[in-house]
Amino acid sequence: MAVPLLQIALDNTSFSDAVRTTRLVYEEIDVIEVGTILCCAEGMSAVRNFKALYPDKIILADIKIADAGNILSRLAFDSGADWTTVICCADIATVKSALREARPRGCDVQIELTGAWTLEQAEQWREAGIKQVVYHRSRDAQAAGQAWGEKDLELIRRLADMGFEITLTGGLVPEDLPLFKGIPIKVFIAGRAIRDAEDPVAAAREFKRVIAQYWG
Ligand code: 5RP
Repeated sequence: MAVPLLQIALDNTSFSDAVRTTRLVYEEIDVIEVGTILCCAEGMSAVRNFKALYPDKIILADIKIADAGNILSRLAFDSGADWTTVICCADIATVKSALREARPRGCDVQIELTGAWTLEQAEQWREAGIKQVVYHRSRDAQAAGQAWGEKDLELIRRLADMGFEITLTGGLVPEDLPLFKGIPIKVFIAGRAIRDAEDPVAAAREFKRVIAQYWG
């Protein structure tokens, strides 16, 4: 089983805040997520600037596309994103149009599983050529008290069995990770657990340590 990557989610409201944390932790992380909040606050210039600063990192523009898959994914990819996200409630035509932009550029589209979705849809995504999904406990669900549980593990295993590469996110802290041991996770995302830590480098290293312990 491959060792999962570590992605930092930059859900800052300004580029300067986002870059301040990234400067500290970039050596510890594999994927830089220009978060939905940062994309709304600063637009695609944040994506452009991160790609220029960190050309060797995978840059994800987390724009959670719901429609106009071609136009929005083109904006993300032309700004330097390697990956972008389409929200799970989007029409399959939106998924396909985003993929059409991704493929010739060697980029990729992830389906963002926040909110309601079905395994029937997941079959459609596979048929359309989607490889990556982001299994996401939303920030608001977490704030309302939703904990990780058996239902999540069952769905994540089903998605892995279907052949998806899985990114896992949603208020993750290192102590959560052992819950997912034995499942092939491609990427773990940490946002607040690294950004808001007193020592972001130590926080990122602790994620890496636990990942290596259970998947290494
Ligand atoms: C919000 C997101 C976040 O980037 C993701 O959930 C990670 O952030 P955190 O670890 O702070 O929950 O996609 O829509």
